[in-house]
Amino acid sequence: MRLNELFSIRCIDCGQIYGINEIVYICNRCSGLLEVYLDVNELNSIVNLDLWRKRPLNVWRYRELIPIFDDKKIVSMNEGGTRLLRCYRLAETIGVKNLYVKCEGDNPTGSFKDRGMTVGVSKALELDFKATLCASTGNTAASLSAYSARAGLICYVLIPAGKVALGKLSQAMIYGAKVLAVKSNFDLALKTAIQLCLEERRIYLLNSINPFRVEGQKTAALELHDQLGLNPDNVVIPVGNAGNISAYWKGFSELRILGLAEKMPRMHGVQAKNANPLVKAYRSDRQDLEPIENPETIATAIRIGNPISWKKALKAVSESKGSMIDVSDEEILDAQKLIARREGIFVEPASAASIAGLRRLVDDGVIDRDELTVCIATGHGLKDPEIVLKLCEMPIEVDPDLESLRRILVS
Ligand SMILES: Cc1ncc(COP(=O)(O)O)c(C=O)c1O
Ligand SMILES: [Zn+2]
Repeated sequence: MRLNELFSIRCIDCGQIYGINEIVYICNRCSGLLEVYLDVNELNSIVNLDLWRKRPLNVWRYRELIPIFDDKKIVSMNEGGTRLLRCYRLAETIGVKNLYVKCEGDNPTGSFKDRGMTVGVSKALELDFKATLCASTGNTAASLSAYSARAGLICYVLIPAGKVALGKLSQAMIYGAKVLAVKSNFDLALKTAIQLCLEERRIYLLNSINPFRVEGQKTAALELHDQLGLNPDNVVIPVGNAGNISAYWKGFSELRILGLAEKMPRMHGVQAKNANPLVKAYRSDRQDLEPIENPETIATAIRIGNPISWKKALKAVSESKGSMIDVSDEEILDAQKLIARREGIFVEPASAASIAGLRRLVDDGVIDRDELTVCIATGHGLKDPEIVLKLCEMPIEVDPDLESLRRILVS
């Protein structure tokens, strides 16, 4: 059997099956979310662990689990292989013993999105597209613009006007994407993007509704397991459109199928207080999503009121016996400063939500002080320099003589 015959695309709601190279973004039968499916037995038969271990730590180390079939079409910038740092000083402040931060800002364009885009843009080439498109709160736009540039594809990005951090906007601009500032929030921009790509079949949609994005992003879980030599007890992760938490859970689930995971981690999703539809759904009995009309948070990356992958995310949380919590903007900014000042790690506000979330989970007794926890720092702090100017003391002007300098030194 050829490799491409082992994979299919399936609807998570009605089970409808599509060919792995069919161009579908949502189920034609029930409008459900789609995911790449690989039979359990096939999964075991195609993976060769010795081969994995010989390869460098990056997304393509797990090549056999990534449904791209023509090696010549792979568009890569060596994404993945991000640092997993043990954080003793941060752990002490939070009151836990065993804390790691996974620095996804190490990726080529400074966020975890690159894991998904190397796969998604490779698929665009494999399917012979000439143009790509996404709606974005910023990082998806930055990443898709870069990978499309490298692939020689035209790229359109739809961003909510005035609500994208400067670093991300400047990335999309310099990589040569057509940047369209939509006069709406992200949710409406995404809805429009999906409609456009369903009609304009020549443009490939690369939001995380595209199941190939998730296939790239799931490698972060495999990588985490490789770096630790085991699964952590807890993974704490910021949640916006809910693609990433779903991707991690898919990765961990595949590890289990491969017989590599002795225990599964609990997945804890963190949202911002006024952009928390998943937290509300998690707390409600019906576990149904009610979109938030006007989500607001300084963490613009997760300023999302109608997360498209909400069902997958709730499944990840319930199957893993994890949780969903929300944190205020104040807690996010405190956490951003804390991780920078205790550990020298500069993350953007959305990423700091995972640290703020951990603090809460520990205080609430959901996470035990002895457990091994990994916080996912999804994006680099330089993405949003303006927030720092608001958050920190400005540079002190000083005359260039020793006397003036000495007056300022900490004794
Ligand atoms: C830095 C950062 N963190 C977290 C998220 C949330 O990821 P997801 O939308 O997959 O839930 C995003 C999404 O844009 C992001 O840019
Ligand atoms: Zn369906």
